[in-house]
Amino acid sequence: MTVIGTRPEIIKMSPLIPRFDAEFQHVLVHSGQHYSPNMDRIFFEELRLRQPDQVLDCGGMLPAAQVGAIMAKLEKLIVAHRPDAVVVHGDTNTTLGAALAAAKYKETGVKIIHVEAGCRSHNLLQTEEINRQVVDRISDLMFVPTEADAANLIREGLAPASFHVTGNTVVDSCTRTAELVDDRAILARLGLSAREYCLVTMHRQETVDHSERLAGVLAALESIAATLKVILPLHPRTGKKMREFGLSFQSPGIKIIEPVGYMEMIGLMKNARFCVTDSGGMQEEVAVLRVPALVIRNETEYMHYVAAGVLRLTGTGTEAILKAAEPLLRDQEECERVKRLSIDLPKAASLEIVRKIKAFLG
Ligand code: UD1
Ligand code: UDP
Repeated sequence: MTVIGTRPEIIKMSPLIPRFDAEFQHVLVHSGQHYSPNMDRIFFEELRLRQPDQVLDCGGMLPAAQVGAIMAKLEKLIVAHRPDAVVVHGDTNTTLGAALAAAKYKETGVKIIHVEAGCRSHNLLQTEEINRQVVDRISDLMFVPTEADAANLIREGLAPASFHVTGNTVVDSCTRTAELVDDRAILARLGLSAREYCLVTMHRQETVDHSERLAGVLAALESIAATLKVILPLHPRTGKKMREFGLSFQSPGIKIIEPVGYMEMIGLMKNARFCVTDSGGMQEEVAVLRVPALVIRNETEYMHYVAAGVLRLTGTGTEAILKAAEPLLRDQEECERVKRLSIDLPKAASLEIVRKIKAFLG
């Protein structure tokens, strides 16, 4: 049984789902955490995913209620289907709720498998960090993107036999999509030219739920827009918070658009001069595509890409963001330099993960 629920889980599990269907008697469950068509359905269509067998309708809830509702609803399916294993991905409320529900049935033989385990920001104020640490602690089998993530699990005392470094499935999703996108059509739809815009996404609770912090980021984007067009596909959480705090953009250089599909997103990323983001998935994708990005967070699970020179960690302060943006705004050569970087990317992971699960379940 695989449980997904949010945009990044759909994207990153998309290479695995058809393989699970082919290899196992497989039940696909969607928690419904993300439910707007442009946060959910569009990815099933574009990535040619089959429909989930069950949707739990657990979207738009307060976080603790959401985890509880996912647990209660999934429990019924676990009892009905008696899966050998429940597979979860990443660090969302869906991940936590599904893993906790499965944990209640460990004694009856249900195993928990965690894809994208071991990533750490080491900041336990973040809900995602709590989710992933708890899920790793109770997982029976884990798939870890890099050796540095594996070292986190070893430091936490988890048994080395319980995890495998297999790379990241986002490398599979992103590489495949990058080959298929029609860059010209995507740029034409938005009236853009390659390298003449900056692509921005932000949605993390720690970035957008604090009015001063969010205002600081928006002020930096206003400044960037004086030199370079800014394209912002707006996450629903960010839109909601901007309205709640009475924040808006004044600059005509900033174009806010609805969240876009994966093809369009990868096309926009590939052709951007640089990106500004707090997204986990995008930090890996810009590395695959070799596009410089400012990470508007205080810490990141992707320090190896900071070291490689593709990411710059700025925090959310206006001045720090602008200081890091300055060389990228001044001169396109900085962007070309990143294109030429040799970056140690995690392997494409899907085939290896399926092989290891088959061996594990016997
Ligand atoms: C969630 C994950 C986060 C992940 C992000 C990916 C948790 C705790 N957070 O954050 O780790 O990086 O997804 O995007 O699980 N909304 C809609 N339509 C949707 C989805 C959400 O309108 O399809 C609105 C709702 O008002 C909702 C709010 O956005 O209350 C926040 O959604 P939620 O799923 O709670 O958290 P995200 O911020 O999306
Ligand atoms: N993404 C997308 N359309 C958008 C914004 C993001 O397809 O309008 C993709 C992005 O390329 C990445 C994933 O969604 O693969 C990241 O999701 P998000 O930023 O919501 O979550 P996170 O990765 O931070 O958990």
